[in-house]
Amino acid sequence: MATARETARPPAATAAHPSFDVERVRQDFPILQERIHGRPLVYFDNAATSQKPRAVIEAERRFYENLCANVHRGVHWLSEHATQAYEDTRIKLQRFLNAADSREIIFVRGTTEAINLVASAYGRKNIQAGDEIIISGMEHHSNIVPWQMLCEEKGAYLKVAPVLDSGELDFEGFERLLNTRTRFVAMNHVSNVLGTINPAKRIVELAHQWNVPVLLDGAQAAPHLKVDVRALDCDFYTVSGHKLFAPTGIGALYGKTKWLEAMPPYQGGGDMIASVTFEKTTYNTIPYKFEAGTPNIAGTLGFSAAIDYLNDLKFESFAPYEHDLLVYATEAISRLDGVRIIGTAKEKAAVISFVMDNIHPHDVGTILDREGIAVRTGHHCAQPLMDRFNVPATTRASMAFYNTFEEVDALVKGIQGVKEFLG
Ligand code: ALA
Repeated sequence: MATARETARPPAATAAHPSFDVERVRQDFPILQERIHGRPLVYFDNAATSQKPRAVIEAERRFYENLCANVHRGVHWLSEHATQAYEDTRIKLQRFLNAADSREIIFVRGTTEAINLVASAYGRKNIQAGDEIIISGMEHHSNIVPWQMLCEEKGAYLKVAPVLDSGELDFEGFERLLNTRTRFVAMNHVSNVLGTINPAKRIVELAHQWNVPVLLDGAQAAPHLKVDVRALDCDFYTVSGHKLFAPTGIGALYGKTKWLEAMPPYQGGGDMIASVTFEKTTYNTIPYKFEAGTPNIAGTLGFSAAIDYLNDLKFESFAPYEHDLLVYATEAISRLDGVRIIGTAKEKAAVISFVMDNIHPHDVGTILDREGIAVRTGHHCAQPLMDRFNVPATTRASMAFYNTFEEVDALVKGIQGVKEFLG
């Protein structure tokens, strides 16, 4: 049986990645200094939620201490400045995703709400009985259930593009599903379970040949890849702030202007209207038409700080480091007897799901937790994908740029410890 020590570790992070100083970056994240069960925290549950740098925590605190007011509703100093900061974040997100116009950015609670918004607003208007919507077999429940609900309501059909044993999308299988009844395609950019990076541009190109719009669920992609919605040419793209080092409860939907303008509102209430009488309401322009009610202003300002943080860190600088971490962890875990990685696509983000012979993932997670190691265990909100791989659950280690090679060693040692204890 191989141990982590027998795995050839890439040169020390600082030597291999001179422009990326992981130890300095770790200082920005207060929680990474915590001890759990008396051990240093090893946080490998980044696909569930990422940790927050001090700048993000401070931005939220500053809003409540110095700037707290509602947006778009006051002529007083605080409200005007809060509105400015809120709208500046929209522009920051526009640039971050390379959208053509800041009006194409809608603030939402996260990817789940973004997909529900599109399924509800676009779907209600454009999907009819007998129409078909295509998703893939590796979707999170949030990119399955809203479409199922829409299909049930409309008498439309949900079609599922198959997944290969490697965890890659069966592209030919997807191609075979497209036909004149297809009205919409919704797929993830990166799988939350397998780490597979889907061929998003090819998916969009092919669907567009059939005049079918495409939503890409970018919840797991945006923390790892530089996203360019114009290069992808997707019609909708969704991100969750909390997976992008921003607070929980804030995210963004990108939509092409032509779709957003043609869509009815998602929710009714304040701020989304132009005028209201008891007889008739006319709606505000985009993006406000889709932002009923007081938004998560503090979260938005935290999101703004997270984007600044990522822009300063630079994807070009941390992405190669993260990739080396993935390669190192994959090699080390695959050498362990009785451990099988689920999801071995050629193009992967730093996510490793695995199963252990005769040991339930919940036991793996519980024992690793005693070592201070946080992983996620279960079906990862992707039950159909568990069925596809014929497993009830997996253990998932998902990485971020602040993880280290030493932490991977600790994980591998922890998995060996599980085997010794229960195997
Ligand atoms: N979607 C999140 C995950 O994969 C919660 O863990």
